[in-house]
Amino acid sequence: MNSAKSVLVTGGAGYIGSHACVELLQAGYRVVVVDNLENSKFEALKRVQEITDKPLTFYQVDIRDHASLADVFAKEAITSVMHFAGLKAVGESCELPLKYYHNNVYGTIVLLQVMAEANVKQLVFSSSATVYGTNPQVQYTEDLPIGAVNPYGRTKAMIEDMLRDLSAADAIKPSQSPWKIALLRYFNPIGAHESGRIGEDPNGIPNNLMPYVTQVAIGKLAQLSVFGDDYPTPDGTGVRDYIHVVDLVKGHIKAIQALQTEKFAAGGCKAYNLGAGKGCSVLEIIGTFEKITGRKVNYSFAPRRAGDLPEYYANPALALQELGWQVEKTLEDMVADTWLWQVNNPQGYN
Ligand code: NAD
Ligand code: UFG
Repeated sequence: MNSAKSVLVTGGAGYIGSHACVELLQAGYRVVVVDNLENSKFEALKRVQEITDKPLTFYQVDIRDHASLADVFAKEAITSVMHFAGLKAVGESCELPLKYYHNNVYGTIVLLQVMAEANVKQLVFSSSATVYGTNPQVQYTEDLPIGAVNPYGRTKAMIEDMLRDLSAADAIKPSQSPWKIALLRYFNPIGAHESGRIGEDPNGIPNNLMPYVTQVAIGKLAQLSVFGDDYPTPDGTGVRDYIHVVDLVKGHIKAIQALQTEKFAAGGCKAYNLGAGKGCSVLEIIGTFEKITGRKVNYSFAPRRAGDLPEYYANPALALQELGWQVEKTLEDMVADTWLWQVNNPQGYN
């Protein structure tokens, strides 16, 4: 048991953060959440406590509010931080770039300042495969160059750079408590907790494939547009590496544990891909969905969506080698769990 260890989860009321809270509580950690509830509901955290039958501590705080965040660190004996808080809509980031730089980049700067002041220097950061930009290689390894292609992606790439710089500064001016940082580059998280009590609850019309498919299947939306049928992929539709959100958050537990091992004894900042390591097309997602749920998904082909890449997936070997992590769940599990969440909660948390 890690009952003495308290993890601060920023953005803990959100889709991935709420699933991380469940895993942390079940692994015996004490959990403190800060979230401004800009894109989430407190109800998610109520359900986290129901699922685990364990309490957590919640502060409705914006991470850009230095004084309030410092107050949380003063009150709670935080040992490490999982940093999920951020805005994530690629399209909105193109329209409102400053909103994204202010929230994601400035918010992370404030968090890091407060962590340094409190001498809490273990961090697991939610990065994204989007930082690989338009790489000609379709299977991404962590050593590929970084080159995001939209403002959202650039906020992730900038934060990664900042974190590498912080860690490098420890080498110049050695510190008794160096920064220990894991950058987790997520591929495409989908799915929900197997209880069907927590899941993804997008505001308005979803941008992402899986929530769109479920809303079509349940009759909330009329038809899915499949963006592009002429990509150089086996069936002409876009290929991505889908990962079950519960597998994803288990990777965070492995990462937070790794930060406390010999490997990170002298500090460091290391990136890991969290993906299944194989690609799946839009038509395969639709086919699996129809097979598992018995529902028809109405769709038609539409032009390619601007900015989409034909195909990419993770090489997750480093996470297996250094964190002892790999995915356990199948595409069928991802679809079945998403569907259970959708059927039980047709209006999300409302
Ligand atoms: P989400 O929107 O469901 O969760 C983010 C949470 O952060 C929300 O609860 C929101 O209210 C909170 N938040 C936002 N700005 C905040 C601020 N300034 N102060 C306090 N709280 C704030 O998103 P998610 O899908 O759970 O994503 C979590 C993280 O993972 C994000 O950083 C996202 O960029 C990253 N990520 C997500 C995906 C994905 O496909 N979902 C892929 C790659 C990376
Ligand atoms: N797609 C459709 N129709 C839709 C939505 C999506 O055909 O209505 C297709 C896309 O063209 C793509 C695939 O489904 O081929 C997956 O699209 P998503 O929007 O679900 O996911 P993306 O791969 O575009 O992007 C996601 C996150 C980003 C993150 C990226 C990292 O949304 O924030 O993964 O890999 F940066």
